[in-house]
Amino acid sequence: MRVRSLCLFVLMLALPLHAADLIIDTGHGTRTWTTAQLLARPDLQNVTIPIDVAFGRTMHYRAVPLRALLAGLQPGDHLQFVASDGFSADIPATILLNQQGAEAWLAIEDPKQPWPSLPNNKGDAGPFYVVWTRPAAAAIGTEQWPYQLVRIQPTQDVATRFPATAPATSVPANSEIRHGYAVFQRTCFACHTLNGQGDAHMGPDLNIPHNPTEYLSDTLLRAFIRNPQSLRRWPEGKMSGFPTQQSLSDADLNAVIAYLHYMAQRKSAH
Ligand code: HEC
Repeated sequence: MRVRSLCLFVLMLALPLHAADLIIDTGHGTRTWTTAQLLARPDLQNVTIPIDVAFGRTMHYRAVPLRALLAGLQPGDHLQFVASDGFSADIPATILLNQQGAEAWLAIEDPKQPWPSLPNNKGDAGPFYVVWTRPAAAAIGTEQWPYQLVRIQPTQDVATRFPATAPATSVPANSEIRHGYAVFQRTCFACHTLNGQGDAHMGPDLNIPHNPTEYLSDTLLRAFIRNPQSLRRWPEGKMSGFPTQQSLSDADLNAVIAYLHYMAQRKSAH
C-alpha cells in the first residue's frame, strides 16, 4: 500500500504541471483559474473574431470578458501577459478596462472541442488566448494577442523597469525617437531585449553586441521587419514579422528604426 502511494506520488511529480491553469495576479489579489472553472462562469459567451491574429482567419471562441477577471485593476496599472514559450506582452489597464470600442476577451480552449493547430507549426494556441473585438478602435497591436497564456501579473511601465531601454530625458516627448520607443514596446519588446533589459528572450538582444542598424541598411531592416524571411530564409524562423499597414504602419515602422538608430549610441551592458 505504502509503496503504491509512493509510486503514485512519484508519478505525479514526473507529470508536467496541469497545462490548463491560469494564474491571474492584478496586484490587488491573486487567483488561479482552471479551464473547468472558467468554462462554468455565467459570463461565458460565444465570441466571433473576424480577423484573428494568431490564426489569420475568422474564429469562434468560448470566452469571458477579460476585465471581469481583473478585479481591482486601476486605470494607471500595467499588466504583463506571459506565455509558456517565453513570450511576454505588456498591456496598460486603461485598454483592458474598455467596455466600448476595443474589448479584450479571454478565450478558453475546451478540451472536448480543441482548437485547430496554429499555422506554421506554432502548435496549440490554448489553453488560454487573449483576443479582441474591434481592435482597431484602440490600435491594438498584433503582439497584444498573447496565446498559450499561463500567467497575468502586475508590472510597471517599461521605462521605469528597464531604464537602459529608454531614450535620454532630453529627448522631447513629440520626437520620432519617443514615438519609436512606444512602438518598440508594443511590438518588438514582446520577444527581444535591448541593452540586456526586458522580460522576453525569444529573439536576440537588439543592441548588444550589435544594433541591427549597424549591420543592415534601413531598406533591408525595413523589409526584414515586414517579412523576416526576406533577409535570411530558413524554416525554423520564429519571428513573425509585420506584413501589413494594419499590423505596423509605415510611420510606426520608420519611428522604430529611428529609435534603434538612436539606441545604437546608447549601448550599456547589463
Ligand atoms: C514573435 C516574436 C518576435 C517579435 C514580435 C519580433 N521579433 Fe525580431 N526576432 C525574433 C526571433 C525569434 C529572432 C531570431 C530569428 C528567428 O528565429 O526568426 C528575431 C530576429 C530579429 C533580428 C535579427 C536579424 C538578423 O538575422 O540579424 C532583428 C534585427 C529583429 N528581430 C528585429 C525586430 C524588430 C525591430 C521587431 C519589432 C518591430 C521585432 N524584431 C519583433 C522574434 C521576434
